[in-house]
Amino acid sequence: MPKSYKQLEQFLLFSTIIFQLQQIVTSSSSSSSSSSSSCDHGTDKSAVIFSFPTFNTTNCKPGGGLLCMGATTAGEGFLNLTLANSTSSNLSSLDYNSFARVLYHKPVQVWPASFCTSFSFRIYPHIDQFELSGDGMTFVMATDPSPVSSHGSYLGLQDPLLKGNSDFQQLAIEFDTYKNEWDPDDNHIGIDTLSALKSLATKSLNSSNIDLKSGKQINVKIEYNGRTKELQIYVGYEGKPLQSFLNYPIKISRKVPRNVYIGFTAATGLLAETHQLLDWEFTSTILSDKTLTDNRKKCMIIFASVLPVLGGLALLAVITVPAMRQRMVKERERIRRMEDLERQYTAAASAPRMFTYKQLAKATKNFSQDNLLGSGGFGSVYEGHFVDPPQTIAVKKISATSEQGEREYLAEICTIGRLRHKNILQLQGWSHENEHLLLIYDFMANKSLNEYLTGQNFLDWKTRCKILNGLASALLYLHEECGDPVVHRDVKPSNIMLDAEFNPHLGDFGLARLLKNTAGVTTILAGTLGYMAPELIYTGKATPESDVYSFGVVALEVVSGKRAVNNLIGETCLVDYAWDMHEKDTLVECVDPVLDGVFDNEEAIRILRVALACLHLDSNLRPTMRKVVMILTNPDEPLSELPDTRPKGVYVSLYGIANPFSVTNPCIS
Ligand SMILES: *[C@@H]1O[C@H](CO)[C@@H](O)[C@H](O)[C@H]1NC(C)=O
Ligand SMILES: *[C@@H]1O[C@H](CO)[C@@H](O)[C@H](O)[C@H]1NC(C)=O
Ligand SMILES: *[C@@H]1O[C@H](CO)[C@@H](O)[C@H](O)[C@H]1NC(C)=O
Ligand SMILES: *[C@@H]1O[C@H](CO)[C@@H](O)[C@H](O)[C@H]1NC(C)=O
Ligand SMILES: *[C@@H]1O[C@H](CO)[C@@H](O)[C@H](O)[C@H]1NC(C)=O
Ligand SMILES: *[C@@H]1O[C@H](CO)[C@@H](O)[C@H](O)[C@H]1NC(C)=O
Ligand SMILES: *[C@@H]1O[C@H](CO)[C@@H](O)[C@H](O)[C@H]1NC(C)=O
Repeated sequence: MPKSYKQLEQFLLFSTIIFQLQQIVTSSSSSSSSSSSSCDHGTDKSAVIFSFPTFNTTNCKPGGGLLCMGATTAGEGFLNLTLANSTSSNLSSLDYNSFARVLYHKPVQVWPASFCTSFSFRIYPHIDQFELSGDGMTFVMATDPSPVSSHGSYLGLQDPLLKGNSDFQQLAIEFDTYKNEWDPDDNHIGIDTLSALKSLATKSLNSSNIDLKSGKQINVKIEYNGRTKELQIYVGYEGKPLQSFLNYPIKISRKVPRNVYIGFTAATGLLAETHQLLDWEFTSTILSDKTLTDNRKKCMIIFASVLPVLGGLALLAVITVPAMRQRMVKERERIRRMEDLERQYTAAASAPRMFTYKQLAKATKNFSQDNLLGSGGFGSVYEGHFVDPPQTIAVKKISATSEQGEREYLAEICTIGRLRHKNILQLQGWSHENEHLLLIYDFMANKSLNEYLTGQNFLDWKTRCKILNGLASALLYLHEECGDPVVHRDVKPSNIMLDAEFNPHLGDFGLARLLKNTAGVTTILAGTLGYMAPELIYTGKATPESDVYSFGVVALEVVSGKRAVNNLIGETCLVDYAWDMHEKDTLVECVDPVLDGVFDNEEAIRILRVALACLHLDSNLRPTMRKVVMILTNPDEPLSELPDTRPKGVYVSLYGIANPFSVTNPCIS
């Protein structure tokens, strides 16, 4: 490598000349690329050629030429990489969070080589009420043929847990149908390396009037010129000529090993769609030593013939070197500006980012005790500080040794990644290295609601109402507004974080699971006693109604300033106490005496009555979060029916066994 600046200039000059020579060589030797819809097979003996003019079930069987993994299914004439039954309005859970890989059965050599592949596909969106579908498919070159659990935005490319494994290399062309924060739109082509999260290049298909989700057959041709190191992508609808879409210079030898598996991946996340592959062919011309020698010979001839030109060039170079130096300074300036821009962008974008363990250790002073904010069920939370740009964060360190911890972690990333609401604690990023699972959140200046229910910190009435309104709207968002219903499962004061202005942010989705994935009864009890709906204790099945119950308990606590459990009022627990007051028609006596009468009487009674309605033992009789929000925000909204006395006992029958449990007192202390 050149050492001094002077040497660098000479080196650059030399490279320029070589480059120009190369241009002459290649333009004379390579036949100009055609835009015919299939690859030029040529006559080269060393070409690897295979062609699947159509697909059938045989192709996925041993000896059928393909390795079909994940959700792949074969039909007559096509392969469905992922499947969304768009005819049925209810998708099965199989359609969500699925991924697929279809690879040619053995590795092929991609460098030094020129290759061409053409294929066609259809994407059928499953349009939900938000008119969204996702996530997309890719053409991939990868070292690792095995399937990876990479649904959603990972596009079947990257196992989120294998990150950082340097043996794992790939290059992919993505056909992306979901707009993440870092994407131009939901209809683009991108070039990805390790993961689909950050593309080397992206370009919207709008410019060529192609809609990936049209359901129409789309033909694609990808050519790589091993001499000019250029990747050329063509696209077009069936029956129309292919258009040149993207030309990207890339040294494939820097990205993937010489021999790689090639094929396709696709994935769905919280949205679904069918990615259907119709045909595929691939040709490759190995640039053998012989062709290289040929080139060298050609080069010699050309070199001799251009020697006079070379002299002229050298002279020209002497003149242009100062200009080049200036250009280099400018280029450096440009790169710095880009980096600044990227930093700004990534700081502004709310998508979870990947961090390294080192970054986080530094930010938290090696996870020192001084930075410890608190410890929870499966991890500790630390305060952290980034210097550039200055930012305070909260880092949740999850004990990775337990399998439970790891599953929680993935659930959290996948779920929160797409949730965005002003009353939901935003996940900023994550990190997974050497057994360390870390989640990065916004830092909350005033800790959690827990700190304000112990009698030591005071909250005025307005703030209490703000917290309950925020919590209710966060739950409404989760249950009804964020696409697929999400049940939080663990609504309690220590999960309600408060920012500097005491706005609530509902956090800890460790237990949140998509309703879709909880079709059956879960065996592991999740949730916290005291906040858990009685039926949940016996059935173990969390529902939006069980979240409503927990909201009711929290609302009682916030209004009364008393804990639901371990804080006995006389002989009864808070829920019983509130019902007693209701029976005696003295509900307002529940309000926290610390407020010293400074509160809105009518508002307090509305909240208490809503809370009691949420605490109904029969889950069917509880109001929905939508109703709760309406009651809290509109004084004219009629209240839900409330029995005069506390409902006594419900019977929960388990698995149809005629041995019902009687649940009369959900207060467990
Ligand atoms: C699949 O296609 C191959 C040839 O492409 C053919 O030999 C085979 O019979 C087909 N199998 C089925 C089940 O149609
Ligand atoms: C493939 O997907 C299409 C469109 O969703 C569907 O009609 C067809 O039944 C699927 N076939 C198979 C074998 O999965
Ligand atoms: C879809 O699911 C809803 C709720 O689970 C159910 O009421 C409805 O009958 C289902 N529709 C179809 C077509 O299966
Ligand atoms: C698609 O729908 C059919 C018929 O309704 C069903 O048998 C099949 O399991 C569904 N496929 C998936 C992947 O859900
Ligand atoms: C492409 O068109 C869609 C629909 O009109 C639009 O939402 C999207 O922003 C466009 N993409 C770009 C990059 O302009
Ligand atoms: C953190 O730990 C590393 C290695 O264990 C050490 O080199 C470094 O000085 C520590 N940093 C702080 C701030 O304690
Ligand atoms: C809440 O946060 C603000 C901003 O950090 C701080 O000034 C205030 O003292 C905090 N209040 C309590 C009660 O801790």
